[in-house]
Amino acid sequence: MLNFEYYNPTRIVFGKDQLGRLPELLKENKAQRILLTYGQGSIKKTGLYQSIMDVLSDFHVVPFQGIEANPEYTTLLKARDLGREEKIDFILAVGGGSVIDGTKFIAGAMKYDGDPWDVLDKKEGCNFTEAVSFGTVLTLPATGSEANSGAVINRSEFEQKRVMGGPMFFPQFSFCDPTQVATLPKRQLANGITDAYMHTLEQYITYPSGNLLQERQAEAILATLVEIGPKVVENPSDYTLAANLMWCATHALNGVLRCGVPTDWVTHMIGHELTAFYGIDHARTLAIIAPRLYEAMFSGKKEKLAQYGKRIWNLTGSEEEIAKKAIESTERFFQSLGIDTRISDYTENHEGVEARVREVFETRGWTAMGEREAIDPSKVEEIVAAAI
Ligand code: NZQ
Ligand code: ZN
Repeated sequence: MLNFEYYNPTRIVFGKDQLGRLPELLKENKAQRILLTYGQGSIKKTGLYQSIMDVLSDFHVVPFQGIEANPEYTTLLKARDLGREEKIDFILAVGGGSVIDGTKFIAGAMKYDGDPWDVLDKKEGCNFTEAVSFGTVLTLPATGSEANSGAVINRSEFEQKRVMGGPMFFPQFSFCDPTQVATLPKRQLANGITDAYMHTLEQYITYPSGNLLQERQAEAILATLVEIGPKVVENPSDYTLAANLMWCATHALNGVLRCGVPTDWVTHMIGHELTAFYGIDHARTLAIIAPRLYEAMFSGKKEKLAQYGKRIWNLTGSEEEIAKKAIESTERFFQSLGIDTRISDYTENHEGVEARVREVFETRGWTAMGEREAIDPSKVEEIVAAAI
């Protein structure tokens, strides 16, 4: 088992009919002037916006509508400016991963004197060192952003997606209400299941870690998602199914699974570039890349692939056969949710994509990635080419 440090201060308020607790938690956080950040309007249609405004009648609330899926840098700068003008002391993010991630950026940018792009661009010496406190009301189980300190920001004029994070970006609290799942379109449900599944695999399909508990916890999430995934897509109003999806997604990226184990994350790194180039939904980019990455890195991953194949898919045969069949089962699982697993399923404009992704890896100096540091830009090119 590898050494690790685990820290997660986010209070999770899980379940239905909990919003009445919001004023109390805001007061605990000394919130008086609140920026309420949200997306393109789904929370108005579902009635959540009004429910929140009703419980916040004693607070000064400034709404900011319009954070896009794949939160857009220029939109977030407008929210930063509004937050400064209104002397905001707390931000409440209401939405999915994009709204929550965007809010993390706004929270850091409000306290940052320089150009915040320098922080995303990892310019030397440029970092967010403090942030406005924030909490979340989650509407889409997928990213785990409600319980972690990371965020991914999109700048479409540059066709770039950038990752940021830091200990000040843990939400103070997150309301996770499974009844929110009922209004999600099938596309977003399938995305949520796939993203949570892939967060788990990124921290599991590596090499045996000796952390038996963590491996079993990862397997518990995978097995639960396999069991409930297709059912929740068909019946998102089923509270038990929705609650299990929501708790799996939070668990998949709240930091527990990476304790004491090697992690990969290259599927995500490549996936972010596919979103930046073509606007493919985040989770779908993962379903496109993961099977091809596991094939390309098979020799280093086959022990864990075989363990996964036996324990999650009940496969039989030689270790090698099980490991291979496990990749096929994974791809079929994504397809069973309605997710296509090839780049060409999403765009005709893919000529040269493998060279473009390779170039990004080279430019950013990502030359030794993955759990064995064995993935270099030419390997990335090979993986992307195989995924077309
Ligand atoms: O914008 P609104 O109107 O709210 O509609 C959203 C959006 O169109 C809609 N939606 C959300 N909740 C709904 C709903 N529609 C009906 N009923 C509800 N209850 O769903 C659409 C997609 O929302 P979005 O927030 O973009 O989805 P998701 O939660 O999948 O977030 C994806 C983003 O998170 C990043 C991704 O890169 C992507 O930008 N990630 C963040 C991570 C993190 N912070 O830890 C890790 C992930 O790997 C991921 O990279
Ligand atoms: Zn993800």
